Amino acid sequence: MSNNSISAAAASVAATASLNQAAPERGRTQWSTRLAFILAATGSAVGLGNIWKFPYITGENGGGAFVLLYLGCIALIGIPLLMAEIMIGRRGKQSPPDAMKALAIEAGVSPRWQIVGWVGVITGFVLLSFYLVVAGWAVAYIFNAGGGAFAGASSDEIGGLFGSLVGDPLASTLWGSLVLAITATIVIKGVKLGLERAVTIMMPGLLLILLILVGYSMTTGQFAHGFEFMFSPDFSKLTGTSVLVALGHAFFSLSLAGGGMMTYGSYLPKQVSLGRTVLTIGLLDTLVALIAGLAIFPIVFANGLEPGAGPGLIFVTLPLAFGQMPFGQLVGVLFFIMLSFAALTSAISLLEPAVSWLTEKRGFSRLKAGLLTSAGIWLLSLGSVFSFNIWEEHKLYGKTFFDVLDYLTSGWIMPLSGLAMAVFTGWIMTKAATRDELGEGLGHRVWHFLIRYIVPVGILLIFLNAIGVL
Ligand code: TRP
Repeated sequence: MSNNSISAAAASVAATASLNQAAPERGRTQWSTRLAFILAATGSAVGLGNIWKFPYITGENGGGAFVLLYLGCIALIGIPLLMAEIMIGRRGKQSPPDAMKALAIEAGVSPRWQIVGWVGVITGFVLLSFYLVVAGWAVAYIFNAGGGAFAGASSDEIGGLFGSLVGDPLASTLWGSLVLAITATIVIKGVKLGLERAVTIMMPGLLLILLILVGYSMTTGQFAHGFEFMFSPDFSKLTGTSVLVALGHAFFSLSLAGGGMMTYGSYLPKQVSLGRTVLTIGLLDTLVALIAGLAIFPIVFANGLEPGAGPGLIFVTLPLAFGQMPFGQLVGVLFFIMLSFAALTSAISLLEPAVSWLTEKRGFSRLKAGLLTSAGIWLLSLGSVFSFNIWEEHKLYGKTFFDVLDYLTSGWIMPLSGLAMAVFTGWIMTKAATRDELGEGLGHRVWHFLIRYIVPVGILLIFLNAIGVL
C-alpha cells in the first residue's frame, strides 16, 4: 500500500475483508508476467475489428472525418474505460457478474450492479456468434490464396470468389464451425496455455505483413489518394449514425464491454501498473487499424472499387494485391494465416467469460462449460451465416440478422455498459479504492476526471445524436 491516509488504509482493509468474504481465491490462475497479460489483452483487442471491420466502416462512413471521430472515441472514452474494466476484473477477482457484485458490496450499493457483468458475458456470447463467421472466411482464404486463386485475377473474378464463399451456407457454416471448435478447444484447455506463444509470434508477423502491404500500396499510384481518404476530414460525408458507429467501433476494437477484458483483468496480479499497460494496448490496437487502412484504400482506388462496399471489402481488395505483387501467393497465405490467428486470440477472449462463469459459479468442468456455450453460439451463428445467402432478403429496417446483431451490440449495448462502468468506477467506487488499483498521482487524476465527466457525457451526447435529438 502506498503512503496513504488512515481513511484510505481503513477503506482498503475493509475492501479486502469484504472481497475475501465474497471471493475466496481458490488458487485462481494468474498471468505469469506483465508481458503475458499485455500479450493476451493485445491479442484480444487486435483482431478482425482492426483489419476487417475498421476499413469497411471507414469506407462506408466517408473516410477522414470518421477516422478522426474514431480516434477521439478511443482516446477520450475507450482507453479510460479499458482501465476501468480491467480494474474491476482485477479487484473483483472473479468472472464478470461476481466481480461486479463483489465491488458493489464493497462500495455499499446494491449487488444488482452485477447486471453489468452479465450483460458483458452475454454480449461476448453474441459477438462470437458472428465473429466466428468472418473468422471462418479468413481461414477459407488461406486455402484460396495457397491454391493460387488470386494470381492475375480481375476484380470481378475475385468478387465472384467471395460471393461464392459467403453465398454457400454449408461452406460458411463449416469454416465457422472449424473456428469455433479450435477456439473452444483452447478455452477448455485453459487460455494461458499456448496463447502467450501464439501472440508473441503472430502479432509481430501480422504487423510485418501489413507493412509489406502498405509498401505494395505505395506502388499502385493511388497511395496519396488512399492517405487523403483516411486523413483529410470532410464532415459533410458523415451519415446520421456515423458518430455512433465510431463510438461502437472504439468499444469493439478495444474489446470493451464484452466481459473479456474484465475476465483477463481478474487473472492479473496486483503489482502490475494498469495505466501504462492499457496505454500500450490502446496504442498497438490503433496502430494496427490505421496501417490496415493504409494498406487497403490505395488498392481500392487503384482498382476502381467502392470504399463503401461493406463487409467484403478486405476479402475483395487484398486478394487483388496478392494476385499482382511479387511472391503474392506466399504473402497471401501468410497474411490470411496471421489474420486467422488474430481472430482466434480475440475469439478466445469472447468465449472465456462465459466459461469462467459456468466453472466458477455452477461448478461445471471446463469441458462441459466449453461444450455447452459453444453449442449455443453455434446455433446463433447460423443466423449470421444465412444473412449472406438464404436470409439475405430478410431485413429489419434494412439490416440483415448479421447487421442487426452488430448494430445492437456495438452501437447500443456495449456503449450502455460502458456508461454503467464509468458511473460505477467514477462515482460509486471510492477514490481510495480506485487509487489503490491505479496508483496515485497525475495519471489517476486524469483518469478520474475523464471517467467521471468526459466518458459519461460523451456517450450520452453520442446517443442523443444517434436518436436525432442533437
Ligand atoms: N477486439 C476484437 C477485434 O477487434 C474483438 C473482440 C474480442 C471483442 N473480445 C471482445 C469485442 C470483447 C468486444 C468485446 O477483433
